[in-house]
Amino acid sequence: MKIYIDTPENIAKMAAKRYVDLLAEKPDAVLGFATGSTPLGLYGELAQLCADGKVSFKNVTSFNLDEYVGLDGTHDQSYRYFMNENLFSKIDIDIANTNVPSGLDTSAETAAAYDKAIEAAGGIEIQLLGIGNNGHIGFNEPETPFGSITHLVELTDSTRQANKRFFNSIEEVPTHAVTMGIKTVMNAKSVILMAIGSAKADIIKATIQGDVTESVPASVLQLHPNVEVYLDFEAAAAL
Ligand code: GLP
Repeated sequence: MKIYIDTPENIAKMAAKRYVDLLAEKPDAVLGFATGSTPLGLYGELAQLCADGKVSFKNVTSFNLDEYVGLDGTHDQSYRYFMNENLFSKIDIDIANTNVPSGLDTSAETAAAYDKAIEAAGGIEIQLLGIGNNGHIGFNEPETPFGSITHLVELTDSTRQANKRFFNSIEEVPTHAVTMGIKTVMNAKSVILMAIGSAKADIIKATIQGDVTESVPASVLQLHPNVEVYLDFEAAAAL
């Protein structure tokens, strides 16, 4: 695990360089994207680099980590909408090659087909991750089996509370989501984990320096051979 600590602006730039380098070498790479506030700086960088002609996503296929159940892609809090707004509409990716789990079809078959589609596309080169306050990655809440593939989850109260800031009320926050599993994430050839802000300091310490345990889903990354962690000074404060 390589750990980089700098300002939010600089870690966004450093992570963006990984994409520029990868796509220079492999223009048709498969990328795993994430939502949340953490990747916004990186997405802004990628949009700028693409506008400047320094990187192209024309031949990229993407798979997002997760989606809320019950929200379709036109809902402004769906992760499909988030990705269209914050990245896909700002880079030259072919929208037909972007994949976000369905929040409307929650069958086990459809979920399992997501893993198969990733595999059929050649596997994810870089899986981007943020981290929840309880250590969730994607929407894999504590105690999710490390062997899990894409599946339907019930969100914990703490996650719904953390995400209610984006909705009008807690009642509007979906109770369930579809997420890539821990194994799906671990199958990626490399992983970039980003965290910003003091609220993430304790969970980052548990993730990197604590035991590998299903109680802290992100701690599984200690077992992955190719992980880069990008932290701002506040998120790194407890290390
Ligand atoms: C959500 C997403 C996660 C994300 C987390 C942290 O629950 N499902 O993928 O990492 O929020 O979000 P933020 O980056 O806004 O702190």
